[in-house]
Amino acid sequence: MFRSHTCGELRQEHVGATVTMAGWVHRRRDHGELIFIDLRDRYGITQVVFDSAVAAAHQVADEARSEYVLQVRGVVRPRPPEAVNPDLATGAIEVEALEATVLNPARTSPLYIAKEGGEDEALRLKYRYLDLRRERMQRNIILRHRVIKFMRDFLDREGFLEIETPILIKSTPEGARDYLVPSRLHPGKFYALPQSPQQLKQLLMVAGFDRYFQIARCFRDEDQRADRQPEFTQLDLEMSFVNQEDVLNLIERLFIALCQTITPHKTLPTPFRRLTYAEAMERYGSDKPDLRYDLELVNLGDVLANTPFQVFQGALERGGQVKGLRAPGCAGFSRKQIDELAELARVGGARGLAWAALPADGGEVRSSFAKNLAPGELEAIIARMGAGPGDLLLLVADTPSVVAAALDRLRRELAARLGLIDPNTLSFAWIVDFPMFEWNPEEERWDAMHHPFTSPRDEDLPLLDSDPGKARAKAYDLVLNGYEVGGGSIRIHRREVQQKVFDLLGISREAAMAQFGHMLEAFEYGAPPHGGIAPGIDRIVMILADESTIREVMAFPKTQQAVDLMTNAPSPVDERQLKELHIQLRP
Ligand code: AMO
Repeated sequence: MFRSHTCGELRQEHVGATVTMAGWVHRRRDHGELIFIDLRDRYGITQVVFDSAVAAAHQVADEARSEYVLQVRGVVRPRPPEAVNPDLATGAIEVEALEATVLNPARTSPLYIAKEGGEDEALRLKYRYLDLRRERMQRNIILRHRVIKFMRDFLDREGFLEIETPILIKSTPEGARDYLVPSRLHPGKFYALPQSPQQLKQLLMVAGFDRYFQIARCFRDEDQRADRQPEFTQLDLEMSFVNQEDVLNLIERLFIALCQTITPHKTLPTPFRRLTYAEAMERYGSDKPDLRYDLELVNLGDVLANTPFQVFQGALERGGQVKGLRAPGCAGFSRKQIDELAELARVGGARGLAWAALPADGGEVRSSFAKNLAPGELEAIIARMGAGPGDLLLLVADTPSVVAAALDRLRRELAARLGLIDPNTLSFAWIVDFPMFEWNPEEERWDAMHHPFTSPRDEDLPLLDSDPGKARAKAYDLVLNGYEVGGGSIRIHRREVQQKVFDLLGISREAAMAQFGHMLEAFEYGAPPHGGIAPGIDRIVMILADESTIREVMAFPKTQQAVDLMTNAPSPVDERQLKELHIQLRP
């Protein structure tokens, strides 16, 4: 028997028992006659005392160093009152060693396991198996397990079947580049790794499985960010004979139950708020607004309809917008602080930031633009924005998308600076009624805003012919604390509608048949109405774990350059392998 107990198990009631434990040397304190070792495993830490009176065991403790793997047999005894550690689950007891064995020595670890933080992330990723020994990472990985287990159990109770779909497939477009796998048996042909199991889950509905889910690995070759990895995990699901409301209700129930179970200490406003895409863009400048705080954007178009100020007037004349954000209590910001905000607005694409500071003492307004306005306009802006003494007003005039991007950036910055973000609130929201299409000016054609299989709203079907840009989709996103944590839609299940959408996306009939012929054909064999969603598990766990990158909740993530620093992937392969795959590298 390797062990009778784990390192997190022993309590007062075990006093007097003889136990065997195995684990890693977390900390070691040498007092000569007495050596204390904190023995660690994933369950916890137990203090083991080695007395020189037990010479052989003491000798092992004398030689042991951090991260040695030890096996210890000993007797549980209460700690002296002054040594009781209330912060440790096993803090009431210690184990008096009778016997000890070094199961494996360890070199000095490049990471200090007992103390977290400080070092370069690259070092952590290179020695990920050591980094993962740390409490924070163990906590995150265990949390992730619990989240996934909860999802599985919940959906099982709801009658869902977990069905695996292949990883070597034909490309499914989700808006990113595919990872390709060359075929040895079919020279010049490639599999693609799934960007998501989208088409397969729809075909499972055609097959009649009615309710499917999968903890699905997805692969997307796109630029990496804190909340993006080249491979990531979705809770992918699909349902037949449902409308949008059915999907939203199920997922809302799932997440309420999940959060109440996994993070009961967090505040969870329910029911989840719902905003249309248009409303979210109008009020927050974002389709994934952080709703833990207000700071709404205010449209000043009508107030400034006749303004002589060239910058505002020009933007409005060109079909643009003038919108503002009220920064409460920020009138005292220095020029330097305001310049920093202007710089952020520029990152969002704005050419400039107009500002006005209303002094707290009611004194004269400082402003970058007030002198250009007609009489009464400044007062009208102040009234519309509900501003008062002490406030700083930030205005951007540009195209709607630039105004949205710039003010969204400022909104998030101000919330952080003003301490308006409650880290213990989980603010979920549904964003609904997305547009079907997005104009791609470079390629001069429509792109699908969600993906090409998304159904238009019934009443907007005629718009596909007359004004596609105005057509809204039966598409919805789940948003949490400013992150998009899920996306889904009711799908097209009729061949002619699917064909029309492919046409609009500029996919020729031949290309549509070559790429999606199986879908078009399947729709002719009795495809049920169906829809689904795919919450991103990494992002959800990241937020529940209070982390700021998904790398912290993945066991073996890649860097921002999509490199695995531990194994050094991607890496060159030998000539023979390439030859077998019929691949010749270009210089
Ligand atoms: P979508 O592309 O919106 O939809 O993806 C769904 C969710 O997956 C997560 N996600 C990511 N997480 C980490 N790294 C990435 N690179 C990454 N990309 C996406 C996000 C996102 O909301 N097949 C559709 C779903 C459907 O229609 O049912 C799809 O994949 O949380």
